[in-house]
Amino acid sequence: MTSSFANRIGIEHPLIQAPMAGSTTPALVAAVSNAGGLGSLGAGYLEPAAILEQAEEIRRLSDRPYAIGLFVLPDEFDADMKAVAQAREQLDALMAREGLEVRTGLPARWAPRFSDQFAALCEARPAVASFAFGVISPVQMRELHQREIHVVGTATTADEALAWADAGADSVCVQGAEAGGHRGTFLHDAEDAMIGLFALVPLAVRALAQHAPKVPVIASGGIMDGCGMLAAEVLGASASQLGTAFLACPECSAAEPWKRDLLDASEHQITTIRGFSGRAARGLRNRFVEAMPEAVAGLPYPVLNALTAPLRRAAAAAGRGDLLSEWCGQAASLARPQPAAELVARLMHEYRLARRMPVT
Ligand SMILES: Cc1cc2nc3c(=O)[nH]c(=O)nc-3n(C[C@H](O)[C@H](O)[C@H](O)COP(=O)(O)O)c2cc1C
Repeated sequence: MTSSFANRIGIEHPLIQAPMAGSTTPALVAAVSNAGGLGSLGAGYLEPAAILEQAEEIRRLSDRPYAIGLFVLPDEFDADMKAVAQAREQLDALMAREGLEVRTGLPARWAPRFSDQFAALCEARPAVASFAFGVISPVQMRELHQREIHVVGTATTADEALAWADAGADSVCVQGAEAGGHRGTFLHDAEDAMIGLFALVPLAVRALAQHAPKVPVIASGGIMDGCGMLAAEVLGASASQLGTAFLACPECSAAEPWKRDLLDASEHQITTIRGFSGRAARGLRNRFVEAMPEAVAGLPYPVLNALTAPLRRAAAAAGRGDLLSEWCGQAASLARPQPAAELVARLMHEYRLARRMPVT
């Protein structure tokens, strides 16, 4: 199989299991990497010590290349505390109405400090570092390259792909509108950057061919099987990054009701939501989304994300998928619940069949 991305990283398959903050585990990452794909740890919500701990666990389970994914954010955030108080009141009332004891709390910090997470990533030294929500600084890019870490930047438009190429990224992962989880958009309003993957891959490939021809494009958003991977390749992508397809794996830490609900979801129930985190993200329109308090509307990420974190944890513990952030891509019901290594083998079998390659 020829894929400039796979060759550069030293992996067998042009297949990446997406970093999914809050849902990936060392077991999932290692299983995908051991099966010849690239497993990715979604570390956006992890404190530096947890990043190092989980990286060590991955290393214990696999000696193959793997990735760590972070959200590029400022180290400090200002919050409008009057708006926070109002949102807390309404969120707490919603939980009370739904019969959950939990209430919002004020965390010591709204999110882990990005620069500390970045330092932990450098120390862990994975083969690949993947970033979303923004572009890293030239100094940070140099630090990664000095450690021979391959940098993947997430883009939702061709302009964002160019911004990452200008910043020195080694690959660009384009995220189509179909994609589950948070939008990586950083140059535009999220609503203006909902480009379908069939449009986005060739747009990004053309833009990069003119400005940075050596930078491979990775396709993500709605890819659920080997045919989808081949389609992305035909459009010009060098590899496919799948998130939702891996959410249903037993090694994934998504709550059980969420795993069940995504298999039953119709595509028209999967929508763009801001009310859990303050940032546009794709997931299931469930009870929480329907009943979302008005006061949360103005709160930005990561302030709202921090406020709803205890509520989401309690909802998961109570088996209340309808009150959870059930992130998933548009083709969620095509997910196949099976161990990650089997899923990788199945995806590659489908890919080879579709490509009319000898099936192993
Ligand atoms: C539950 C969930 C969490 C995600 N978290 C991250 C993340 O931490 N970092 C990131 O770059 N992308 C994240 N994504 C987006 C994926 O990288 C990818 O764009 C998306 O999963 C592709 O669409 P698909 O889910 O239809 O396969 C997440 C996606 C999901 C479903």
